[in-house]
Amino acid sequence: MSIDMLTIPAQCVAESRISELDYNNIEFGKIFSDHMLVADYKDGKWQNPQILPYGNMSLSPATSALHYGQSIFEGMKAYKDANGDLLLFRPLDNFRRLNKSAERMCMPAITEDIFMQGLEQLLKLDAAWVPPTSGCALYIRPFMFATDEFIGVRPSSNYRFTVFTCPVGAYYGQPLKVAIEPQYVRSAEGGAGFAKAAGNYGAALLPARNMQERGYHQLIWTDAKEHKFIEESGTMNLMFVIDGKLITPPVSTTILAGITRDSVLTLAKDLGYTVEERKVSVDELEEAYKAGKLQEAFGTGTAATIAQIATIHYNGQDMHLPVVEEREISNRIANELDKIKTGQAPDKHNWVHRI
Ligand code: COI
Repeated sequence: MSIDMLTIPAQCVAESRISELDYNNIEFGKIFSDHMLVADYKDGKWQNPQILPYGNMSLSPATSALHYGQSIFEGMKAYKDANGDLLLFRPLDNFRRLNKSAERMCMPAITEDIFMQGLEQLLKLDAAWVPPTSGCALYIRPFMFATDEFIGVRPSSNYRFTVFTCPVGAYYGQPLKVAIEPQYVRSAEGGAGFAKAAGNYGAALLPARNMQERGYHQLIWTDAKEHKFIEESGTMNLMFVIDGKLITPPVSTTILAGITRDSVLTLAKDLGYTVEERKVSVDELEEAYKAGKLQEAFGTGTAATIAQIATIHYNGQDMHLPVVEEREISNRIANELDKIKTGQAPDKHNWVHRI
């Protein structure tokens, strides 16, 4: 099926719920736009893509994804430019990453036609839900899960792919206090840590809650073998500025290949900063902090965009970083990235997909 041939049938809502939305007070992930895209994988192929009113799905209690976790997702964002046109940021990268996650979780790849045309049609229908407000966006959640009604452990033969959207403001409203996790592990080499698999997030909840009870917003994961090297934090990749250089752990089987991560590194290089993708040890961070060389720390992610880190806790000590306003590299890149996403700066890497 070519993209020109696929026009996805839509069943539209009789009345939009948009009046429920207060553009000046948008909480992350609580209010959902009018429509969703749904397609099913049956008899070895994706079929019946359709746009439906956003709403509940009826599932058997034996739905395989609920028991064995064949469930993957993506996160992406759409913005409006000054003319009110819709701009999607790097959607093909999300498409490719979803299919990498699918491969690791023994699930079928979604087709580019359904993913891209589905997104375009969905966003055109729900264009009014893309907030024009600075710092806000329409968060898009594509996901896929196993739908076999069967409780033997095996890859499902049937799957559902769905995309729904929700207008969002900031994910974290303030600079974060994070703590380095000394005991729990998110991901080990050879595991599925690089995949955006639901179970990776579920297994992170208890350690994160433990840290929250100790007064930290999030934790920093370290490697599974020695808890010596920094991996990622909560829902974000991590970056540090040490002695003027932007340093981040390399992507691997244990770390998600963040699209915001890649965008930040690309812009940093464009702006002439030195970028190092290499292992960062906890000891290196501590030494840099003591020497006054740990200038910036921040997380990157679609939901979080660039989330500043104010404090890093390790081994009984809080490392307090320079105030956010003084951070040259992350502030400059955040500003540049924001301008590209909203059509206010040239898109020289072809990241923006206009709808
Ligand atoms: C995203 O940044 O899109 C994520 O996946 C984070 C999400 C779990 C809120």
